[in-house]
Amino acid sequence: MQTDATEKAAELPECERATELPECERATELPGCGRATERPWWRDAVVYQVYIRSFADANGDGTGDLAGVRAHLSYLAALGVDALWFNPWYPSPLADAGYDVVDYRSIDPAFGTLGEAEQLIAEARALGIRTIVDIVPNHVSSLHPWFKEALAAPAASVARQRFWFRPGKGADGELPPNEWQSIFGGSAWTRVADGEWYLHLFAPEQPDLNWERPEVWDEHEDILRFWFDRGVAGVRIDSAALLLKDPELPEDVPDAAPGEHPFTDRDQLHDVYRRWRALADSYVEPRVLVGEVWLPDAERLARYLRPDELHTVFNFDFLACPWEPGPMRASIKSALASHARVDAPATWVLSNHDVTRSVTRYGRADTGFAFETKREGTPTDLLRGQRRARAAALLAMALPGSMYIYQGEELGLPEAEDIPPEKRQDPMWLRSGGVDPGRDGCRVALPWSGTKPPYGFSPDPNVRLWLDHQPDNWGPLSVEAQTEDPSSMLSLYRAGLRIRRQAPWGAGSQLQWLDYGEEVIAFARGESFFCIVNFGTQPLELPAGADVLMASTELVGDKLSQDTTVWLVQTTNRAAFDPEQPRAHHSS
Ligand code: NOJ
Repeated sequence: MQTDATEKAAELPECERATELPECERATELPGCGRATERPWWRDAVVYQVYIRSFADANGDGTGDLAGVRAHLSYLAALGVDALWFNPWYPSPLADAGYDVVDYRSIDPAFGTLGEAEQLIAEARALGIRTIVDIVPNHVSSLHPWFKEALAAPAASVARQRFWFRPGKGADGELPPNEWQSIFGGSAWTRVADGEWYLHLFAPEQPDLNWERPEVWDEHEDILRFWFDRGVAGVRIDSAALLLKDPELPEDVPDAAPGEHPFTDRDQLHDVYRRWRALADSYVEPRVLVGEVWLPDAERLARYLRPDELHTVFNFDFLACPWEPGPMRASIKSALASHARVDAPATWVLSNHDVTRSVTRYGRADTGFAFETKREGTPTDLLRGQRRARAAALLAMALPGSMYIYQGEELGLPEAEDIPPEKRQDPMWLRSGGVDPGRDGCRVALPWSGTKPPYGFSPDPNVRLWLDHQPDNWGPLSVEAQTEDPSSMLSLYRAGLRIRRQAPWGAGSQLQWLDYGEEVIAFARGESFFCIVNFGTQPLELPAGADVLMASTELVGDKLSQDTTVWLVQTTNRAAFDPEQPRAHHSS
């Protein structure tokens, strides 16, 4: 049985090899490259999330930039991704790492220029990689011209009505208008010089826009057009379920009925996204809308994916799911079922710039993710976490739908948990009084080469990084160190994505669950592809009549040990290869 991912990759067709720039990526029409011509690209795309400040610094100022991304496009092409999603790259005072935008139509000078962004979009596209930009419609920076105008304007003026200004409660208006809490902690209201208060669901430097105002709708449609006209393939919509508020601003009740919460998932939101979808569809190559929608209710979530609304949403249920077979299986089933009802592809997300990196998370006693339970000093077993993160990556790659990879996950970076307090930047850490470790630990600059900081991230070896910390032991995790190592996380991702591009399951094939018992997730796709994940302590005997395409961890005597995923391809006829013997199978 074949287990070495790189050896197997050598047998792949020319167009699938990582080192060659894939012609087949450009031409969806080319036959034999596992791509159906009529299938929209986004339905099974692999999207790589670029946190630009920490990706690569070309000009040596300690902050990643557009030139750094352009210099590493071949790395991304070799990795085998279909699209790049950039976190906000707009001018920003960085109260929330760029999610406080001053000008939505330009590039922060720390990153480069608009011209360079256009070049990057075109160069990536020439390599078959599309670009997705981050749109932040719920709030702006407190330095945005609209908010400055509002501060200078009197109460009840049009300029103030673009936001949520209200008089306070109490004898002198000294109390906030209601008890709403900021997602970053503390009151969601801040008082201004003339005594009025304004709403910010995040930091005070991020005042919420009032989507009751028509110019707010118009402005955002214009921003979309601006980027669509520059060749971006789509937008990721920040805090997409929060835009609309109940204008009465009633108190927040914990068990509000669906659609009744005063600022989450309000029904009128769907009108916004219908307008955006019509705009996106008006392009010859229709643009794509990806929503950041954190909702526990799968059916409410799916409403955003109706055919005239968003194309995809991030699957946070899967991301937050503990590494346990029951919850994982249930999460996958629920996502597939709820998405199928609206004919939308599910997405498989293991990490992003807001959550604890998967290697660290999966090494903990509680392997799930919740913002509320993040605490300093939670122990982790990184070896175990890495093994599980490898298994999770192959599981995610094998599932039908699209996949998101947060930069550094392909290197197996752990969360940097030893950032000294004086270097931390995240408002979640600051506003929690240091109780919540915040998100800096997953935003550390990538290690490209060498054995000590800045690990090739910047050309200046003595540079002071924007987040002035990289762990001392990241040398073996650098791209350089992992490239030639067939057992590295990077090799696993490269080989896995290469095979995924070949779609060994056939175009768009659905998943068929196989029953290997409680401790195992197993499914077939198409005629001959099988994915099996063993969560249990008992090594699992693999079925006969199949070749191993790849495994997340070396097999032990042809058995699948704990926390390992294997991809199998049938070599004999289906009758001979009967993975579920003697158990029965059922469809999803
Ligand atoms: C979600 C983003 O992912 C996060 O980083 C940001 O802090 C909030 N939205 C507010 O924009």
